[in-house]
Amino acid sequence: MPRRVTKAVFPIAGLGTRFLPATKSIPKEIMTLVDRPLIQYAIDEARAAGITEYIFVTSRGKSALEDYFDDAPELELAVREKGRTELLQELDRTTMKSGTIAYVRQHRPLGLGHAVWCARQLISPNEMFAVILPDDVIAAEVPCLQQMIEAHEETGGCMVATMEVSPDATSTYGVLDVDAGTGPVVAVRGLIEKPDPGTAPSNLAVIGRYILSPEVLTGLARNEASADGEIHLTDAIANEVGSGRKVYGYRFDGQRFDCGSKAGFLQATVAFGLAHDELGHEFAEYLKRIRTKDGPLIAK
Ligand code: G1P
Repeated sequence: MPRRVTKAVFPIAGLGTRFLPATKSIPKEIMTLVDRPLIQYAIDEARAAGITEYIFVTSRGKSALEDYFDDAPELELAVREKGRTELLQELDRTTMKSGTIAYVRQHRPLGLGHAVWCARQLISPNEMFAVILPDDVIAAEVPCLQQMIEAHEETGGCMVATMEVSPDATSTYGVLDVDAGTGPVVAVRGLIEKPDPGTAPSNLAVIGRYILSPEVLTGLARNEASADGEIHLTDAIANEVGSGRKVYGYRFDGQRFDCGSKAGFLQATVAFGLAHDELGHEFAEYLKRIRTKDGPLIAK
């Protein structure tokens, strides 16, 4: 049985240009989905899946993230003095134990593969590790990474989360070439990053959860940038297949939101707002009220 995965890499070095001007001074991962920053969803999912060590691949301008995961003694004192103990619990979720979180810098934006490679010194030569892209927020009864880790204990090899997308969307994803199969685990014959329209080998898109072997890091060290100037993680995983090692796609159970786009972020806001314990009811009433209203709700 493969050793349990306990380390996760969070590539968060992107500039977040799609969210300018908001991301001029705050990292995209700190943007709030209802009442938690995007990164908190990723951390909560990782924790639930048994991850105990977190590696953040950052870039310039991301120091707010380091502060977010630090102790906040003044804030805690103020909250305690006000008797708001429920808020202390909320703060507790954001604090990481000393030594469980590490930050490495990606000095230049050379792509997702390069970002993951930047974490190589923190991963042992025989250690499987997870990668979580916080832009992909996945609502699921059993957290997506946990589903994958459980499946991986049976299969070994590398594993990527996958879901079906419409054929015209395949050119915006990594896409799997797979053997036909109906279960959640599919054997991967090949992967291609953002295939030209009409050339995708399937409509199974790679979603931002990976369980990878250290060989992928070795492969990334050799990988050349592709035509777009980036080093793609997808290419390094494709090399694994090429070298005869096993790679699986995992069709997770859950709903994925693309919080790397404004439209996806809005959809997630509505879905998570409706599912929120305290706000859900009021928000649902509001949506009901405005549904029948003609024209814009506020002047443009
Ligand atoms: C990245 C990966 C891509 C994957 C996608 C999932 O692309 O390169 O293979 O399908 O995440 O969200 P990006 O969205 O960063 O362009």
